Amino acid sequence: MKKVTLIKGDGIGPEVVDSALRVLEAAGAEIAWEEHLAGISAVDRGEDILPETTLESFRRTRVALKGPLTTPLGTGFRSVNVTLRKEFDLFANVRPSKTLIQGGRYEDVDLVIVRENTEGLYAGVEHYVDRRHHYAESITIVSREASERVIRYAFELARSRPRRKLTLVHKANILKFTSGLFLEVGRELSGRYPDVEFDERIIDAMAMQLVLDPTRFDVIVTTNMFGDILSDLCAGLVGGLGLAPASNIGADAAMFEAVHGSAPDIAGKGIANPAALIQAAALLCEHVGQAKVAGRVQSAVERVVLRGDARTPDLGGDATTAEFTAAVIEEVTSGVRAS
Ligand code: NAI
Ligand code: MG
Repeated sequence: MKKVTLIKGDGIGPEVVDSALRVLEAAGAEIAWEEHLAGISAVDRGEDILPETTLESFRRTRVALKGPLTTPLGTGFRSVNVTLRKEFDLFANVRPSKTLIQGGRYEDVDLVIVRENTEGLYAGVEHYVDRRHHYAESITIVSREASERVIRYAFELARSRPRRKLTLVHKANILKFTSGLFLEVGRELSGRYPDVEFDERIIDAMAMQLVLDPTRFDVIVTTNMFGDILSDLCAGLVGGLGLAPASNIGADAAMFEAVHGSAPDIAGKGIANPAALIQAAALLCEHVGQAKVAGRVQSAVERVVLRGDARTPDLGGDATTAEFTAAVIEEVTSGVRAS
């Protein structure tokens, strides 16, 4: 039994996480969950927003499944997501986008964004220059070390996929040092991966090309802010946030979640789409060496979404979270029986 830290999260978090847990169990995942609190639900129970017991569990298990966390506006609370990424040095944010619904906006999209997750414009080096607050500046940080590890991760990922293509996205024509360094490291590393087709694009042209024809891309690697924007764009190409999973990968720890947030507008209504969190749970299974289970879960989600009779409202259907979950469990169980 693999021990995994579980954070159900806020808003729709518990609804979609419970759905994922039931699907994993039906698929035969061998995981012992250590449930801990974080976020507003922790604060509501009189705990810290990120309790030490939660951190202690994750330090031991090195793997976590996390529902979305509400980040309160205003001061006094640090973002728990940012704290976790920093504490465990989760350097690559990996976000696959795959067409599940044929006949939608684009057929056959199957790409993965690998976003640098620890520096860039998210380094938090930002301040007012003068006392009257008329000038502010933000500093972007790019290091050779962080660039190398995330680009190497992207090359390895591209190598493991059938098309073996990697596109590095940059703005080195303007940001000659920071984006320039990232590009330079990518070019250097490409020499060590002769079996991967390496390509480079400037961010603005890349945005246009993704909208014109996303099927020509396979793995995309880029710096933190560009990756943040492009990954939401890519979620939109394939049906929206209800279908978009994410993994945060470090050298010796990983955290799996949905791209979406706690969706307070639909929390408690039983209509949230659990597909993003279920797919994140499948990625987790693959990460802990349970690839068969992962494959079963992912293809069951794909079949149910494609079939169309159990789609949740965000995908134009009228199924509840429970109905979608039941349909996926039925697919998973028939898969288990067949194998
Ligand atoms: P959101 O992703 O929670 O919601 C945006 C829109 O998408 C809403 O209309 C929502 O109903 C819909 N939506 C999202 N997930 C859905 C699902 N699974 N099924 C059906 N519809 C879904 O983004 P928002 O409203 O900007 O953020 C709410 C809170 O979540 C904020 O406190 C924010 O900080 C937090 N957040 C947390 C994240 C995380 O923990 N990784 C990521 C993004 C936001
Ligand atoms: Mg974002």
